[in-house]
Amino acid sequence: MELKEDYFEQQQTLKNADTAQEHQINHSSPFDPSPTLKTCPVVRGYPFVGVLPELLQNPLRLFQRAIKDHPGEIVALKLGPIQAHLVTHPDHVQYILNDNWQNFGKGEAMWKPVRQVAGNSLITSQGESWFRTRRLMQPMFTANQVNTFTELSVKIIASQLARFEKAADGGAIDMENEMRLLTQSITLGVIFSSSIDHNRAETLVEALKVLMQGLSRRLFLCFLPKQFPIPGERAFRNAIQTTDDTILTIIRQRRQSAFEHGDLLERLLLARDEESKTGMNDQQLRDESITLFIAGYETTATTLTWIWYLLDKHPEVERKLRAEIDTVIGKRHPTSADVAKLQYTKMVIQEAMRVYPSGWFLARVVQADDVIDGYALKAGTTVLLCQYLTHRLPEFWDRPEVFDPERFAPEHSTQRHSHSYFPFGGGPHYCIGKHFVLLQTQLTVAMMMQKYRLRCFPGHPVEALPGITLRPRYGLRMIVEPV
Ligand code: HEM
Repeated sequence: MELKEDYFEQQQTLKNADTAQEHQINHSSPFDPSPTLKTCPVVRGYPFVGVLPELLQNPLRLFQRAIKDHPGEIVALKLGPIQAHLVTHPDHVQYILNDNWQNFGKGEAMWKPVRQVAGNSLITSQGESWFRTRRLMQPMFTANQVNTFTELSVKIIASQLARFEKAADGGAIDMENEMRLLTQSITLGVIFSSSIDHNRAETLVEALKVLMQGLSRRLFLCFLPKQFPIPGERAFRNAIQTTDDTILTIIRQRRQSAFEHGDLLERLLLARDEESKTGMNDQQLRDESITLFIAGYETTATTLTWIWYLLDKHPEVERKLRAEIDTVIGKRHPTSADVAKLQYTKMVIQEAMRVYPSGWFLARVVQADDVIDGYALKAGTTVLLCQYLTHRLPEFWDRPEVFDPERFAPEHSTQRHSHSYFPFGGGPHYCIGKHFVLLQTQLTVAMMMQKYRLRCFPGHPVEALPGITLRPRYGLRMIVEPV
């Protein structure tokens, strides 16, 4: 089964969303309604602090250790005085993200740093305010709407490739950095088009770099006592101020301008709520545009980086991919009609997101006491879902460690559990930018492969670093060869 794409075509879900604030629990659980209660296994840690030091040092390693002896079970992690629960079984994921999603909110603590940056936006809000924003923004993110950005994206990628050629100049290049520069340009272009000149773009990109590092650093610090000083707090706050100033100036200028830009900011400015007929104020526009930027650029850049790494390790996949791009597009620039035909390219991207999901974990907080498959969870408990682990459960994936895009061929996808694969989340909060990601990655992969062959630099170490995204710890040094 494919992930359900458009929940918002389902009126029933909209109605459910309306009740989200009241925490009404809708028990459409796949589990036994009156189960024998089970005890969650607890992962061994140190006295008092439990596994908190390991969580702060390497959360992915901790999660891997936690499920090693208890695959598919809900596992308790003692984090100082707090207990969190790690969830990996697709049935449990489905229950939390979809079937009973109203009872699993985003909570305050873990999202606090994101709220400091993104304010009260689609990604940070809940209940009624989230629902109204999602209803307002959803129409801008359908596959058809996103496809209208193809030409602009192709233009930006082409100009970035000209820069890339110079940077490569026959030597090695840090592909992670290159992919970040590329997705920054595309994302800024799609959101602000010509309103963002070179100087503003540089200011914003520098500030966002500090913000993303700050977010990664703060990821699990909420489990520490409140008096614990957070390093880099002043730089983080300054970067928020710079971002505010830059984006609010653009928004105010755009309100005065009659010129048509055709970008996302314009669509946000024109959007009206279907009930109240009101649009967004400047602060809301600021919060949403910054959210689209931070949610979109690093996740997409990281996905592209892993794709280049995996292609180098799997020459047979690279050959097949190249053949598809040659047949469908040849040497010209791709169009949106071509993108629809790049089926194998899409499968490669999907499989890369299984093996290295850039959004590698999700957090929720239980709203009212609940029981999942016999495991009792108290209100206020943090649950951590880990795409990286669920995507590799041997019970649901044949040879899970092997990179094999054929898994995503339509004929092989029908039997899959809908929540054994959730790189874009699931349920009503699933990623609104999913079609953007597919478009940007398909275009970038196709246009780069038309010109280049990329090889990993011999001896360069590659290891996944779990921060706000899952990225290569040492970047990705690659050698660029013309085809
Ligand atoms: C490879 C790239 C991306 C990945 C892996 C990714 C992943 C995710 C995931 C896992 C969620 C669910 C979060 C949760 O439930 O707590 C999410 C939500 C979201 N994503 Fe993405 N995303 C990507 C790109 C984008 C892009 C390009 C945009 C915008 C243009 C975007 C905008 C959002 C927004 C606004 C939400 C919140 C949706 C809601 O709660 O209604 N994402 N994303």
